[in-house]
Amino acid sequence: MINIALPKGRLGEKAYGILEAAGFECPSIKEQNRKLIFENPEKGVRYFWVKPSDVVIYVERGAADIGIAGRDIILEYSPDVYELLDLGIGKCRMAVAAKKDFCDRRDRTLRVATKFPNIARSFYNEQSRDIDIIKLNGSIELAPILGLSDVIVDIVETGKTLYENDLEPKQDIVDISARLIANKASYKFKNSEIREICEGVRRNLGV
Ligand code: PRP
Repeated sequence: MINIALPKGRLGEKAYGILEAAGFECPSIKEQNRKLIFENPEKGVRYFWVKPSDVVIYVERGAADIGIAGRDIILEYSPDVYELLDLGIGKCRMAVAAKKDFCDRRDRTLRVATKFPNIARSFYNEQSRDIDIIKLNGSIELAPILGLSDVIVDIVETGKTLYENDLEPKQDIVDISARLIANKASYKFKNSEIREICEGVRRNLGV
């Protein structure tokens, strides 16, 4: 049985759709209930829904053999896992954004609000920029509006959230998409099963 960690939410549903189309379906996952684990012994797969940022933890520690995680989460947590495939879904970018009239003064410490402190730190380290990280857990866009920070480092997908809150992207940091990741030991000991899933997905996506 291959244990697969799916990120709860829209991205996870899309990811499951890809695995289903590749021949690794699990019909019980579509039932309306609050179960978190679903399996299809015939196909040798067991799926479970986890918080998106927890997928890397489940996979790194081997509670899941494989999983789907955004590149944002992978860069932020640097888990010791194999990255097998870019699924080409969940595309967005990590960017610095601020109020439209924000004027950066390099002689001052920059206050940066973000859910991604490691990504933000390494981005500004490369520029030898002195920053003060303010770690938030959501609604990051509020920070510059309320004067809590000068800029934010956050995910931009359509740009609508920034636009509707009178903010604008100032600098792109990195492109993001969802990746299929594998636990290192599982990749060794369940190699043929994992490769079969990986190849099925690859064939189906045409990549
Ligand atoms: C993400 C991100 C932005 C928004 C960007 O938020 O933090 O707020 O999506 O999307 P857009 O460019 O299409 O407007 P998410 O929905 O994950 O919520 P949270 O960060 O507030 O938890």
